[in-house]
Amino acid sequence: MTHLPDTPNDPADSPRDDAAAEASIDKLSSDPTHPLHRRLKSFVRRAGRTTDGQARAFAELGPVFLLPYTEQTIDLTTVFGRTAPTVLEIGFGMGEATASIAALMPDTNFLCCEVHEPGVGALLKRIGEQQLTNIRICAHDAVEVLDHMLQPDSLDGVHVFFPDPWHKKRHNKRRLLQSPFVAKLASHLRPGGYLHCATDWQPYAEQILEVLAHEPLLRNTATDAEGYAPKPAYRPLTKFENRGIKLGHGVWDVVFERKAATKQRPPLVLRKATAADAALIADIHTRSRATTYRGMLSDAYLDSEMAAESRALWQSRAEELATNAGNVLIAERGGQPMAFVRVLAPDATGGAYLDNLHAMPDQKGSGAGTALLVAAGQWAKARGATYLHLRVLDANVASIGFYESRGWQLTDRIEDIMGGQEVTARIYALRLDA
Ligand SMILES: C[S@@+](CC[C@H](N)C(=O)[O-])C[C@H]1O[C@@H](n2cnc3c(N)ncnc32)[C@H](O)[C@@H]1O
Repeated sequence: MTHLPDTPNDPADSPRDDAAAEASIDKLSSDPTHPLHRRLKSFVRRAGRTTDGQARAFAELGPVFLLPYTEQTIDLTTVFGRTAPTVLEIGFGMGEATASIAALMPDTNFLCCEVHEPGVGALLKRIGEQQLTNIRICAHDAVEVLDHMLQPDSLDGVHVFFPDPWHKKRHNKRRLLQSPFVAKLASHLRPGGYLHCATDWQPYAEQILEVLAHEPLLRNTATDAEGYAPKPAYRPLTKFENRGIKLGHGVWDVVFERKAATKQRPPLVLRKATAADAALIADIHTRSRATTYRGMLSDAYLDSEMAAESRALWQSRAEELATNAGNVLIAERGGQPMAFVRVLAPDATGGAYLDNLHAMPDQKGSGAGTALLVAAGQWAKARGATYLHLRVLDANVASIGFYESRGWQLTDRIEDIMGGQEVTARIYALRLDA
């Protein structure tokens, strides 16, 4: 940080910089094979004076607002005493922005981590002064808090405002926002949750943008070509930031959000129907026709007679299903039946009759019908068919559109009886040898 309390966290700028000790710490920390190797921290604990007011706040408000670090998962509803969206803030410094945002968003919980003790006292003092109830402070390394106390998919947002920039090249590895930690942060966000970082150090802004852009769980919310976001209204301009801006320094906000969960769709599977599928096929047949023919055939027929008719029809075909050579197929996805087709073997003219092609009402347009149509054509062609033909009610505009868009040609119109009603049916044909 270039502003809060003038970057005492960065050993590079510290008057107490002990080059030898620092070099040895760097050596231990960066060599994972060294027996004393430990994770590089994004902070160094610095001494700082706790004021009387802060000490009072610790004593009076600490018991309510300080959350002790534990290696066990916490329940956020219990911690805050309510169920509400929760934002994690990492490194709140003296808590100026934290308190301002918490006051602005009383319906959000803020779990705030900071290792600098006077900063913790300062925020406790603000909590008292502003009578805030939606903040809990964990005075511990946020990396460990995330690792042990928080569950994946549990956060609605993460704020990292002006993280220590660790200016010197050899200290860059101490920066908080690096790929493995960002991956961890992303996995702790709910889908749609956001990660908001702000910095006044341009090389760190560039690094943050790059690291976040490479995290597969995240997507940038910025529409600006450079990738930086406009400052969200909730983040206040702190006095340090204002001072920097007056001196002509830049500030970069980076706001990414966790992508919506995308479930891999199970593949569409076609299988030969068996005798055990008679009732299932009758069900698809009934439901499909009840939807398709509504308004074309009488409700009495569609709502009662037709179901019994379909059941009887498919029971009578039990033998055909038992010896099914592939002419009755069922389409399924993830074990869920979607549609079925029945095609007959070709006659002497080379025509194979497509007797049924029906989909569950909620599966129309799912691709199952097209896949079954192709499979039926292949099955018939393998048996010498040169064309498929079928009947469709003249009034069935949706199905007519389906077949015509797939190259079927109208060849005839016939009068027929269906559901006890006189109907006009169209005959369509599809050439298989084209
Ligand atoms: C540069 S200051 C910025 C403070 C504040 N966000 C602001 O904008 O004024 C960064 C703060 O992050 C804290 N910090 C760094 N790494 C941390 C960690 N892993 N867990 C908790 N706090 C951390 C430091 O103690 C320091 O107070």
